[in-house]
Amino acid sequence: MSKNYKRYTISAALPYANGPKHIGHLAGAYIPADVYVRYLRLNGKDVVFVSGSDEHGTAIPNQALKENTTSRAIIDKYHAQIRDCFEKLGMSFDIYHRTSESIHHQTSQEFFLTLYNKGLLNEEVSEQYFDTEAKVFLADRYIVGTCPRCGHTNAYGDQCEKCGSTLSPRELIDPHSTLSGKPPVLRPTKHWYLPLQQYENWLKEWILNSHKDDWKTNVYGQCKSWIDAGLQSRAMTRDLDWGIKVPLPDAEGKVLYVWFDAPIGYISATRALFKELAEGKKEFATPQRDFGKVAEGDWKKYWSDEETKLVHFIGKDNIVFHCIIFPIMLHTSGEYILPDNVPANEFMNLEGDKMSTSRGWSIEMHEYLEDFPDKPDVLRYALLTNLPETKDSEFTWKDFQAKNNNELVAIFGNFVNRALVLTQKYFDNKIPASGALTPTDEKVITDLKEFPARIAASLENYRFREATALVMDLARLGNKYLAETEPWKLAKTDLPRVGTILNLALQISANLAVLVEPFLPFTSARLKLMLNSKNFTWQECGSHTLLKEGHALSEPKLLFEKIEDETIAGQIKKLNAKKASIELASQPVDLAKPEVTFDDFSKMDIRIGKILKAERVEKSKKLLKLQVDTGIDVRTVMSGIAEYFQPEEIVGKQVTILVNLAPRKIMGVESQGMILMASDKDGSLRLLQPSAVVSPGSKVS
Ligand code: 2FM
Ligand code: ZN
Repeated sequence: MSKNYKRYTISAALPYANGPKHIGHLAGAYIPADVYVRYLRLNGKDVVFVSGSDEHGTAIPNQALKENTTSRAIIDKYHAQIRDCFEKLGMSFDIYHRTSESIHHQTSQEFFLTLYNKGLLNEEVSEQYFDTEAKVFLADRYIVGTCPRCGHTNAYGDQCEKCGSTLSPRELIDPHSTLSGKPPVLRPTKHWYLPLQQYENWLKEWILNSHKDDWKTNVYGQCKSWIDAGLQSRAMTRDLDWGIKVPLPDAEGKVLYVWFDAPIGYISATRALFKELAEGKKEFATPQRDFGKVAEGDWKKYWSDEETKLVHFIGKDNIVFHCIIFPIMLHTSGEYILPDNVPANEFMNLEGDKMSTSRGWSIEMHEYLEDFPDKPDVLRYALLTNLPETKDSEFTWKDFQAKNNNELVAIFGNFVNRALVLTQKYFDNKIPASGALTPTDEKVITDLKEFPARIAASLENYRFREATALVMDLARLGNKYLAETEPWKLAKTDLPRVGTILNLALQISANLAVLVEPFLPFTSARLKLMLNSKNFTWQECGSHTLLKEGHALSEPKLLFEKIEDETIAGQIKKLNAKKASIELASQPVDLAKPEVTFDDFSKMDIRIGKILKAERVEKSKKLLKLQVDTGIDVRTVMSGIAEYFQPEEIVGKQVTILVNLAPRKIMGVESQGMILMASDKDGSLRLLQPSAVVSPGSKVS
């Protein structure tokens, strides 16, 4: 740790409330942030942990357009969904705020005015894209086009999601409006710009010199290439009707740029937290936290006092905003501290492809929780052991299963369970006395002592994978100890020795219960319950005397259960089906056929009939031979539906039939009509049936 800080402000990126969030988001920012915060709290540190919904920007009205609803309805729906998922996955935010709250609007407007009044924002009129049909200027995500860097054809006006480049709308090749689909035209409009280039020297000193050694190389590298490429003025306002109004008299129809207001969301969340704490409406996420009486104005200490350590947890696509733009805002306002670190993660891929909600190649948090409601820690563990800390990583369902079965069940769960069950069996479920120690015992005690500091060192350096592996190593140590000492073989001959072994195994379990808490909080809670142990601190860990002789334990239960192959196969099938259905929906429909007259149409005699008999046709995969009651007569129809229906399942069904089609011979059988079908984009067929049963012969017109 670079400096001894008095308190901590930890933020996790505010996700856009424009849709569900997937497990890649969890691996990018939220799980590492939560582990870090839980670790700090266990160390008795004064921490606030903030996050919340990013509810502005064009992403919100764009989604409203897709769902045919209002922006307000979109943010309400997805804020609630994302917040609930985070809670179920154990994210221990002190507050999960919203940028639509009035305190955030106020804080953002005050921030803007501070910069404006200091003369730090330049008013400029420039040419921006305008949609002549929708009659609006097209901010950021209302424009799509081809990325000039990687050629991706669906890049947004502010960012290419394929290569991660930050773009300006004018850079896009073949831009078109997402509102009308038309190419936009350029029109003059006034905005307020932050001249980033003026802070280049300051940034060089702050990042390139001061943080060369403590920032992750992926983060440092991205900052360096941005600075080396030369910074440019960036508009801090937009022409939009959704967002925070620009607090100036001549700014009708203008709102703050979403990347101006969103990071300020961390500050307003902290303000809101302390207001609610002071009013007694809320408590910190950790009930045992006691740093004296809280006043509403205390939030300032978490944002202005140099003795506060500010850390932003984000994914790599947010680096420029958190390392360059927001720090310039904080610095120039003169009122705030800067982040000590921004340990951004890279991306997590899924089964060999980039994770993407829009392409259907994703595991959304709510989907996981629906299928594995009692396994939040298994997901946490599978992600933690596979975090994209230095490069992109990959989630596979097979690996998820292996992490559960081979590590959580076979090592952690097995060790704890053996220690507890044997204690129940031989010592009336009480901690047995420890007798004379053997060299094996001494070695385990020495190793145990080192774990808290080793795990802490990894966490202090934001190496969460390494820290998680160390916790599993402690369980491994316990397992190995039991395998070597084999207490189950000694019960008949040397019960006191069994007592010593189990005492030590239970001490390791008690240590595990604490040290695993940042990583697997639900498991920690269950284990503490079984051990009937108190909330030991991190500092108390490493000891082999946490639990006293005679201390009564609770009923042992299995901590983890095996995940079967069928479950995993089911998930892989589900993933592929989701992608296929989204691909299908996004395929274009065939263009309309040339116009026909009403007379043309009325020549067709379409009726509702009933299938009386259906049989396969020899040597044909596609055809079924049907007997249809048309109301007029009973006739034979040859229909190419055999790939989609079994003969027995369609007998008795009502169908739509063209009865005056000229008879044709098909496979030597005369077909007297045509069954009408709905043919989906992939060619699959469905029957067209009336919404309620009608009598055969009913006319369709
Ligand atoms: O990329 C995103 O999802 C943004 N909504 C993150 C914002 S982080 C912070 F600035 F609020
Ligand atoms: Zn690109």
